Amino acid sequence: MASPVAPQVLVAANRGPLSYALAADGTLSARRGGGGLVSGLSAALAAQPEALWICAALSDADREAVRRGVAEPGVRMLDIDPAVYDDAYNGIANSVLWFTHHHLYDVPREPVFDAGFRRRWASYTAYNRAFAEALAEEAAEGARVLVQDYHLALVPGQLRELRPDLRIAHFTHTPWASREFLEMLPDDIRSELVWGMLGADLVGFHTWAWAHSFMAGAHLDDERGIAEPLFPAGTGGERYIRKNPSGPVRHKRTDVAVFALGVDADDLRALAHRPEVDDKLAGLRAEVGDRRTIVRVDRTELSKNILRGLLAYRELLTVHPEWRGRVVHLASAYPSRQDLKVYRDYTESVRELAEEINAEFGTEDWQPVLVSVQDDFARSLAAYRLADVALINPVRDGMNLVAKEIPVVSEAGCALVLSTGAGAYAELRADALTVNPYDVTATAEALHTALTMPEAERAERTKRLAASATALPPAAWFTAQLEALRG
Ligand code: G6P
Repeated sequence: MASPVAPQVLVAANRGPLSYALAADGTLSARRGGGGLVSGLSAALAAQPEALWICAALSDADREAVRRGVAEPGVRMLDIDPAVYDDAYNGIANSVLWFTHHHLYDVPREPVFDAGFRRRWASYTAYNRAFAEALAEEAAEGARVLVQDYHLALVPGQLRELRPDLRIAHFTHTPWASREFLEMLPDDIRSELVWGMLGADLVGFHTWAWAHSFMAGAHLDDERGIAEPLFPAGTGGERYIRKNPSGPVRHKRTDVAVFALGVDADDLRALAHRPEVDDKLAGLRAEVGDRRTIVRVDRTELSKNILRGLLAYRELLTVHPEWRGRVVHLASAYPSRQDLKVYRDYTESVRELAEEINAEFGTEDWQPVLVSVQDDFARSLAAYRLADVALINPVRDGMNLVAKEIPVVSEAGCALVLSTGAGAYAELRADALTVNPYDVTATAEALHTALTMPEAERAERTKRLAASATALPPAAWFTAQLEALRG
């Protein structure tokens, strides 16, 4: 059981606020982790100095840091057996759960649930248990615990068995699979997943679209006697009562709610005006000249739909040749999950298609697409400042914070081309140019409309987009969940 100074607020996430790199001379250096979860949580926890963030050691350098006792205050990294970690993170979380929630399978071939899958699922369970045990060990009596994302879906159920005194929330930063995709999972595995989540007092999503999918999935399991809705989905007061609360788990009720993460305007603008970003901006300006810019920033992630975005840009240059030489597409696609072949191949395809477009249209003094395949946050912020148009066209995305960041930082006021697949669509659609992410022609036309939008209209829309984007900044997003947990 916890000591008297044990934390009252704990967060568990696969990725921590920092990860380490090990230099040839043995020195460890820390760097900020990538992705929306880390941006949001880091900003939220800045206002919670007493909180403890439990995360996994992601690499040999992180494990070395744990062994040397190198740690940031308020962070505990778990040194999990590398083979177990690889099965859980690459084999299940990123290859199965991510693909299920984002509908990414190439269905004639995938998914395949065989003996190898079940072995990896056992690792996923063990990896979740390592988090549940660490939380149980650290948390103060009655503490509030916020478990993050699909990596840790089993933790709420496991932790409740170990520490029934705790108040537990689970927050999903991704979409939740539609009923058809959830139903692909073997029955026993799906049931474990839903039961794991329903171990929480509170289950949160970025938008009602994903919350309703979750509830539809729980209804599905209701047919098999798992959970029973107290109120029908969509009435706003969704609660689940467990049908079978016998056994060691005493928990009976889970609330499902939406907390739409936004950005903190002051923090973001301060970050975007550091000297390092000014330097990058000067470099980009020199390359772009007085041309218009279409900006996108993503991880090289299949669900971000980077290839169709490039195809739309190519179609724009074909159908509206007046833009040739007058626009530059700045695409930052920083490497992600490169242990998975499908991600390496995707990254390569992005590079190749950008090269094709440059070869087809480029001239001596104009390169149509500038792709940066590196994790360079300062360059991304510089691109945000320069953006005339932001292109955010995911096929399916939990929130997409970039859609919220660009309107806040853009200096010229920027038109947002946004797909219906982004979680941010729910809040930003009124002032964005919205597109079906599969429709390349419609996306090309939206880019043309964005580039020709009158300046006053663009400025007006950007102002409203920035207001929506900052409605629930990270600190408020976090405290809203803590408050809901107190209930
Ligand atoms: C998404 C997930 C996060 C994850 C991030 C980066 O935003 O919801 O949980 O941290 O992608 O992915 P990575 O695999 O690099 O942690």
